[in-house]
Amino acid sequence: MAARPIIIDCDPGQDDAVALLLALASPADLDIRGITAVAGNVPLALTERNARLMVELSGRKDVRVFAGCSRPMLRKLVTAEAVHGQTGLDGCPIHAPTVPLERQHAATFLVEELLAAPDDAITLVPVGPLTNIALALIMEPRILPKIREIVLMGGAFREGGNTTPAAEFNIYVDSHAADVVFRCGRPITVLSLDVTHQALTTPSRLAAFRKLGTKVGGIVGDMLAFYDRHDIAKYGMPGGPLHDPTTIAFLLAPDLFTGKRVSVEIDIADGPSLGATRVDWWGVTQKPANALWIERLNADGFYALLTERIGRL
Ligand code: RIB
Ligand code: CA
Repeated sequence: MAARPIIIDCDPGQDDAVALLLALASPADLDIRGITAVAGNVPLALTERNARLMVELSGRKDVRVFAGCSRPMLRKLVTAEAVHGQTGLDGCPIHAPTVPLERQHAATFLVEELLAAPDDAITLVPVGPLTNIALALIMEPRILPKIREIVLMGGAFREGGNTTPAAEFNIYVDSHAADVVFRCGRPITVLSLDVTHQALTTPSRLAAFRKLGTKVGGIVGDMLAFYDRHDIAKYGMPGGPLHDPTTIAFLLAPDLFTGKRVSVEIDIADGPSLGATRVDWWGVTQKPANALWIERLNADGFYALLTERIGRL
């Protein structure tokens, strides 16, 4: 079967970086048309550099990287150096990437790549704030029928927020962009904290990356060891939740996941619930379902897939 065309929009961040490596290790399954970077975990100058470092590390010099928006649509940028470190990739050796940054703005690339594609051709995989995706949708609505599906990491329902009590980071940082995306009418699959909090990088799972005995396996182990320390302390869990790679794993092995189609609305009102994902789990509003909300994953299967694919690099 032909590789599925995708565009990954990200804000690396160690978990974004592992998601990129998982996708870059899977060329027979995923045709990465481009990687677009957005401001989020750290400022844009670092997220685009970090994305290029992962492309270089993977050896996939065929994959292009574009820089997008340096701040949310309306509000001030909120970053997360406390979680990811000052570089955004603490745990990973940093150098000037050999992979060049494309000159085109990410939103322009998204519009042009989608307009040139057939209907239902390209899957968008946003794993950071949704600013670039919303901007492209606003710039050129004609891209809508070209989008096969949006598989995103963001939001929270049963788990509660990780940035405010009500909101998850990606949705909180640019709630207005999230509102644009969730209203766009294209199929959306949501990997929220509800499911990513079941994907815990326990010590044995962490050791499995290092046991690969490869350069990439060692770097993944070091990045996750750094990244996990914050969430283990915060949540008291036996390992840090591994958020962004669940989107790529969903594309590679959807049978590892189960979910339910529901109505999801984004709270954009200033106040304590700004950025909340209002999930109508029981259909009480009778509003049409606009998203597949993933509820459960097979965590052992997820880590087995991830470790095997990382081992290919
Ligand atoms: O809330 C987790 C999300 O916020 C992940 O995508 C992480 O990389 C940060 O962007
Ligand atoms: Ca991210």
